[in-house]
Amino acid sequence: MKAIFLCLILFIPFVANGEEEQKGEERKIEMPPLHHIVKVKPPEGMQVPKKFPLNDRGEIDCKTCHGIKDIATTPVDQVDKKADNFHRGGPYKALSDFCHHCHKKKGYERPNIHKLLDDKGEIDEKDCEYCHKEAPDLKKEIKRDELEFRLPPQKLCFGCHLKTPHLNALNHQVKPDKKMRQHMRAAEKKLKIILPLDEDGKVMCATCHAPHQLGVIDKNKPAGRQVADTDLDKGVSYVEHPWGRVFQLDKKARLDVLAEQDGTVHTLSYQRIKTEVLLRLSAKDGSLCQACHEFDK
Ligand code: HEC
Ligand code: HEC
Ligand code: HEC
Ligand code: HEC
Ligand code: HEC
Ligand code: HEC
Repeated sequence: MKAIFLCLILFIPFVANGEEEQKGEERKIEMPPLHHIVKVKPPEGMQVPKKFPLNDRGEIDCKTCHGIKDIATTPVDQVDKKADNFHRGGPYKALSDFCHHCHKKKGYERPNIHKLLDDKGEIDEKDCEYCHKEAPDLKKEIKRDELEFRLPPQKLCFGCHLKTPHLNALNHQVKPDKKMRQHMRAAEKKLKIILPLDEDGKVMCATCHAPHQLGVIDKNKPAGRQVADTDLDKGVSYVEHPWGRVFQLDKKARLDVLAEQDGTVHTLSYQRIKTEVLLRLSAKDGSLCQACHEFDK
């Protein structure tokens, strides 16, 4: 599969206009043959890491992928391809490791650790021990403070997911005030769910997300109640909203400022969630948000 992926790019001949073009000179940059596509905006859903700077139009450009100064104006045969930073963030053991900074390795490579049940609905304790020090015994009553993890639970997700997998994930990792905590405890009771906080009382990924595939934990237990209107192969998906264009234009100026500040480009659209999975409550109908927030009606 990886081979197919790599082959694809090797058949994209490409000639690009470089920085000169902007300076008004007409000289074209002779790109290496079969080179990766350049000067395109990352599509929705692609998260280009911060250390891969986009150009000022928010596109991938020479400096995004190459840490070599003035690569665009250096003749191809004089570029030091062995330099560590030739591929930004390198050297890499495998070129595919470089590609995977931007291209999701959906399914193959980084295992989808959430798929915990096999065809027969059985678990493999080894999978549990990716996160848990010891696989919890599902037949026993488990007290939360007896759970032991290989990393603090608020850090378990970061080897595989970004710290900002989506808008608002980061600014949610704070301590709810007393009023919100009371509201949360009431929601937990009423809706028979859990909204666990980390050891400092802060919201973490697992506060909103159930880490386990539906059915691993008994659905009648609060920790086992979760939203899953699709399977883990499909995952969370979205539909474009007719207002999307308006929303984008509206936010554009602000996002451009943000992009300048932190070097990333935020493509944002007004989308609605279509399918949900691994959530403790539905966000589609607002019930997740309302378990913590009290909005004015
Ligand atoms: C999306 C990432 C990406 C962008 C953007 C990018 N490159 Fe590359 N470039 C690569 C990769 C990957 C290779 C190496 C391919 C290989 O080793 O098979 C490469 C190879 C090269 C090489 C060496 C080719 C050779 O002869 O071996 C040069 C020179 C180069 N790029 C110049 C540029 C210039 C100039 C730009 C901007 C106009 C640019 N690149 C933009 C990813 C990128
Ligand atoms: C800095 C981010 C970045 C890196 C690193 C990167 N790509 Fe891309 N790649 C992109 C973007 C952005 C596009 C264009 C958007 C799209 O079509 O998905 C793209 C498109 C592609 C395409 C489709 C090209 C087309 O014409 O539609 C292939 C194939 C591809 N990349 C393979 C690779 C391979 C192989 C590597 C590693 C050698 C790699 N990419 C590294 C960002 C990146
Ligand atoms: C991706 C990481 C991850 C994997 C893999 C994982 N768990 Fe968990 N599990 C967690 C986290 C995080 C919590 C704690 C939530 C909290 O703070 O209450 C948890 C809590 C639990 C609980 C306690 C639920 C309760 O009643 O509060 C049980 C039981 C459990 N896991 C069983 C399992 C089993 C069995 C497996 C393997 C089939 C497994 N887990 C795999 C992350 C994981
Ligand atoms: C071993 C790697 C690994 C770990 C650790 C991990 N995940 Fe994932 N997770 C994945 C993969 C692979 C997917 C599939 C989708 C993708 O490629 O992003 C995924 C998907 C998800 C999804 C979205 C479902 C979808 O496909 O749209 C959520 C939500 C999620 N993970 C939350 C978490 C949380 C919360 C934790 C920590 C408790 C965590 N993950 C830990 C690998 C991991
Ligand atoms: C306040 C609740 C909340 C917190 C905290 C939160 N998420 Fe999410 N997450 C959501 C909701 C709601 C969705 C689905 C819809 C959306 O993207 O808004 C989602 C979607 C996802 C997806 C699927 C995105 C996609 O487009 O495929 C992943 C992966 C994910 N979360 C991982 C994480 C990780 C990792 C953390 C911790 C760093 C985290 N989330 C923290 C509420 C939360
Ligand atoms: C587990 C509790 C919890 C859930 C669930 C939750 N939030 Fe929050 N949210 C917080 C906390 C804590 C803050 C930070 C304190 C504050 O601003 O009130 C916050 C802040 C916010 C902010 C302000 C962010 C900022 O930059 O100041 C917005 C907007 C928001 N939440 C929207 C949502 C939406 C939409 C959902 C549902 C998808 C949601 N929240 C779900 C706890 C939660």
